[in-house]
Amino acid sequence: MSGSVISKRAQNLSPFYVMDILARAKKLAAQGRSIYHLEIGEPDFSTADSIVNAGIEALKQQQTQYTPALGLTQLREAVAEYYQRKFSVSISPQRVVITPGASGALQLALACLLDAGENVLLADPGYPCNRNIAQIMGLQAILVAVDSHNNFQLEASLVLQHWNSKTRAAMVATPGNPTGTLLPVSQLVELCQQIAIKNGHLIVDEIYQGLVYDAEDYTALQYSDDCFVINSFSKYFGMTGWRLGWMVVPDDYVDAVDRIAQNIFLAPPTISQYAALTALKAETQSELDARRDIFKQRRDFLLPALEQLGFVISAKPQGAFYIYANCEKFSDNSFHWVKQLLEEQRVALTPGIDFGHQQADKHCRFAYTQSLDILEKAVAKIDLFIKR
Ligand SMILES: Cc1ncc(COP(=O)(O)O)c(C=O)c1O
Repeated sequence: MSGSVISKRAQNLSPFYVMDILARAKKLAAQGRSIYHLEIGEPDFSTADSIVNAGIEALKQQQTQYTPALGLTQLREAVAEYYQRKFSVSISPQRVVITPGASGALQLALACLLDAGENVLLADPGYPCNRNIAQIMGLQAILVAVDSHNNFQLEASLVLQHWNSKTRAAMVATPGNPTGTLLPVSQLVELCQQIAIKNGHLIVDEIYQGLVYDAEDYTALQYSDDCFVINSFSKYFGMTGWRLGWMVVPDDYVDAVDRIAQNIFLAPPTISQYAALTALKAETQSELDARRDIFKQRRDFLLPALEQLGFVISAKPQGAFYIYANCEKFSDNSFHWVKQLLEEQRVALTPGIDFGHQQADKHCRFAYTQSLDILEKAVAKIDLFIKR
């Protein structure tokens, strides 16, 4: 038998350090010890009944075959109507591409805009899969350090500073992961203008849209027709496992995206697309907004509670369900600290190192994807841990 020959791109892919935490948490749970899961970036609510029932109905109707690669026409239309209803933005359904999650959209955007050896600018700290997807595709991800001065978001001056002859795009997420901060509209508009001058593209990941607290929610489509705007049914719509998202692309790119999607995915999942038609209905929105209000209550509890314990949160999270906290007061190695916290008090967090290099050792991410009751208990446990 020949030895395994694994590609360099696979060998070089960085692991998620939080997986170590998860594996250990599972072992502790198997020993009968309850774990406070504040590391998971997934809503604790299950999919709303009306959406589930629409999925069941689609199955009963034998909707089990491929759809077009760009998605069901009626779903593309429903997405366009959704933008009209929520943001008074009129976009052609032709520009809407239905994808297997935001993850599928990110792959399509990068494959459509960049050739091997070219690069994309990403915020550090930022969502880790972006740099890993780029690497798998033979692209380079240039990590640009951001901090509280720019709301942990890329800004035009930084983008210009890092742009080189091989840069084709910059990518932002608003609200962002791990910081939950919004990209201010003025910053977005300037990014669009400067990147257009460079003949490049801005990819805007709006996966946490709808989960925005005490700030105005927006879409980049209100300000530009040139951006690649990514969204998903995973977070606000509570459908992580249905693996469905979408992307709105400029007219000229629909054909290229279609050809790539045909080859990589063939089609997005059919049953999920039928369920998503119900997710987008105005009637479903009130239930989803009530969930958003619960996330807000949790943030309003957790943020001051962590600050009181001594964590420093330098930019207030206005959306998503994350708090990125500086834990330097307790340790200069957050990965080690997070591991110890799990061992001693059974609270699981995500270490900063999963999100990039910038001050990663001094940070950890809290996900408030658990009930207030659990969050309160977890805070008490962390208090015990840091006072021990
Ligand atoms: C910023 C961001 N983008 C994209 C994704 C991928 O989400 P999905 O593929 O479930 O839509 C995530 C998941 O956590 C995320 O945080």
